[in-house]
Amino acid sequence: MLETPQKVAVGRAHSKLILIGEHSVVYGKPAIAFPFKQIEVKVTVKNIEGNAIQIESPFYKGPIELIPEKMEGIGDCVIQTLKVLEKRSSGLHIQITSSIPIGRGLGSSAAIAIALVRGLFAFFNQELSDSQLMPLVERAEKFAHGTPSGIDMIAASSANPIWFQKQQEVESVKIGAPFHFVVADSGRIGDTYSAVKSIRDKYEMKPEKIEESITLLGQLAKEVRLALAAGDSKKVGDKLNQAHQQLDLLGVSDQGLDDLVNAARTAGALGAKLTGGGRGGCILALVENEKLGKKVADALVQAGAAQTWQFTIAKC
Ligand code: MEV
Repeated sequence: MLETPQKVAVGRAHSKLILIGEHSVVYGKPAIAFPFKQIEVKVTVKNIEGNAIQIESPFYKGPIELIPEKMEGIGDCVIQTLKVLEKRSSGLHIQITSSIPIGRGLGSSAAIAIALVRGLFAFFNQELSDSQLMPLVERAEKFAHGTPSGIDMIAASSANPIWFQKQQEVESVKIGAPFHFVVADSGRIGDTYSAVKSIRDKYEMKPEKIEESITLLGQLAKEVRLALAAGDSKKVGDKLNQAHQQLDLLGVSDQGLDDLVNAARTAGALGAKLTGGGRGGCILALVENEKLGKKVADALVQAGAAQTWQFTIAKC
């Protein structure tokens, strides 16, 4: 029995999708990302007897001190957040549940860290500002990705589409008409860390070749921003196809992702590309309407997708 009354607080964060600009964003080019609210992380924080911090997640259940190496960022995020809150003495049970599949370029690591910080601040009845949240999440992201651009954590904590460029103010993105998308999970875990590193290695060997693709991706992001504002879905689709080609040239697509992209296009998608780090993970396809979305989703499952989601970005 607890001597003190049971207190429960919840922190949540949603998934994100990069529409265009993954990888080139690491080199300072702009990118566009959407909040993907259909899937999310929920962190429930409760008080327990004693001083221990117990973690309960799909991958590990036990005291924070024994957290496995691959979850080190999560353990560190809890400890650092408690430091900022100047709380460390009470026993806590922290439960992490998530409908965001991990390693699929859907921002699961950023969403976990955001939900953790939000849950802990809520538990201790503290207001949480972005200037407190972001450094804590950035630290956790460094464990997961090495040198993240920061787009994942901004997109997973934003309610609206964002225009993101390193070291610059995040801007909103005008959406001139609703845009419908299908997202397909290849079912394979991608490794963002090694995908980012592989481009860096190539860049050191052949800077001109890599620079060409990076520059083009930056240009495509600008064109997509204009086409989104104009509500021009055909143009957006065309630019997404071009972006996939450049990501393929950079070596971060693979046969499985190319097959899904081609299946979506053959079924009538206006454009399709990988989203996130690549080499596994997910693709997204732009479709004219929801009915076509269903057709494209079925074709993607036929082509081997483990699961699909449909979503619409509203006019804003
Ligand atoms: C990962 O979601 C996006 C990448 O551009 C890496 C990053 O921006 O940190 C591949």
